Amino acid sequence: MTDVDRKPTHFPPNPPPPIPSHTPNTTMKKPTIAAPSIPVSKILENHGRVMQLNGHVGFDSLPHQLVKKAVEAGFQFNLMCVGETGMGKTTLIESLFNMKLDFEPCNNELKTVELRTKTYEVAEGGIRVKLRLVETAGFGDQLDKDKSAKVIVDYLEGHFERYLQEELKPRRMLRYFEDSRIHACLYFISPTGHGLKALDLTTLRELSKRVNVIPVIAKSDTTCKDELLRFKKKIMSELKSQNIEIYTFPVDDATVSETNQQMNSAVPFAVVGSCDFVKKGEKMVRARQYPWGIVEVENEEHCDFVKLREALLRTNVDEMRQRTHEVLYEDYRKERLKQMKIGDGETGPKIIEKLAAKHREYQDEYARRELALREEFQSKLDSTEAEMRKHEEALTARERDINDEFEREELKLDTELRQLLEERTKLMLKVSKKLKK
Ligand code: GTP
Ligand code: MG
Repeated sequence: MTDVDRKPTHFPPNPPPPIPSHTPNTTMKKPTIAAPSIPVSKILENHGRVMQLNGHVGFDSLPHQLVKKAVEAGFQFNLMCVGETGMGKTTLIESLFNMKLDFEPCNNELKTVELRTKTYEVAEGGIRVKLRLVETAGFGDQLDKDKSAKVIVDYLEGHFERYLQEELKPRRMLRYFEDSRIHACLYFISPTGHGLKALDLTTLRELSKRVNVIPVIAKSDTTCKDELLRFKKKIMSELKSQNIEIYTFPVDDATVSETNQQMNSAVPFAVVGSCDFVKKGEKMVRARQYPWGIVEVENEEHCDFVKLREALLRTNVDEMRQRTHEVLYEDYRKERLKQMKIGDGETGPKIIEKLAAKHREYQDEYARRELALREEFQSKLDSTEAEMRKHEEALTARERDINDEFEREELKLDTELRQLLEERTKLMLKVSKKLKK
């Protein structure tokens, strides 16, 4: 993310609805951006005492410059989908972005949850967006359900940490840094109609502190309308009673207030996804076909897909990016700086001093540990050497015993041999005497 990205860049709240086309790594022709039509005098009036200029100076081009810069730099949007295996995550993202994704389906045998990431560059109307799509694989398939949430939390914090490390560098390159912090998370709730499971509550509690969570009821075509309404109410009341704060679309900006109010009242969005197109009259529509008819993905009578797309990709993208940076990342950053014992006002050279002190502390700790390890190693070496010496002595003693035994045996055999030879000589003498007779 660049510094420019973080500025609130307000585009018309409800841009016309064409769907992004997938144009990976395409360098688009730069668009011509018209300056906003709000008169500058009107903006200035809202800020107290204002000196009126006696003629046109040209400050009114400032918003135009900001928009131009932001458009040239392009935008980054990182979306995560969390949900149990086969819940329709890939199909929904494919339906949202109207493009084929190469996410492999997950087999239920993973030992831990995995986070699979794909990045794409899409362009629409001259606006380039770098998309990072993350999908969980194996979520909820393991016995230890708490671990599933931990893997996702570690992932989210890992990307906060990556940004923090860049930010703390004396020569930081945030303008060129690829911001991988997740801006929004679609959480897929199973369409059971029985409320949230323990796994949902544990995960949603942890995720909502670190990412903008938007819950969706997956495969809502498998549940009837009344039941869906009851299910939505139940989910929302459970979240409230458990003090889990999912993301709410902001209603303080008059231009989007009405739309966002509608969006908030539709949460959790009951969605349907499909990779198939079905002929309806003259046109082809994205739909799921059943023996009794079709469920159209983009028909508001059939599901909340259109509302989700409006809320997620059209009205609130910048707002979610901003909240990620200014609220969620900020909380993480504060906590980490507290751990590093860096307080307020310790910026610039002071922060470098602090970091250097911290570095020295680490080095001392490292040296202490190295010394302790060396001592431990030396004492282990000494005791092993002593043991080996003992073994060696025992071996030498045994060798000596064997040699003694051998010498004794040799001596005994020599004596026996000598005696036998003497007896033989005597016998030979006797025999020769007898022969002479
Ligand atoms: P994994 O990545 O393997 O965890 O699965 P996933 O959550 O990405 O699900 P995927 O999109 O691969 O869909 C799994 C199956 O559910 C496919 O057969 C889809 O056609 C079907 N499916 C997806 N969305 C819907 C839906 O809205 N309604 C119904 N009825 N089926 C759906
Ligand atoms: Mg998938």
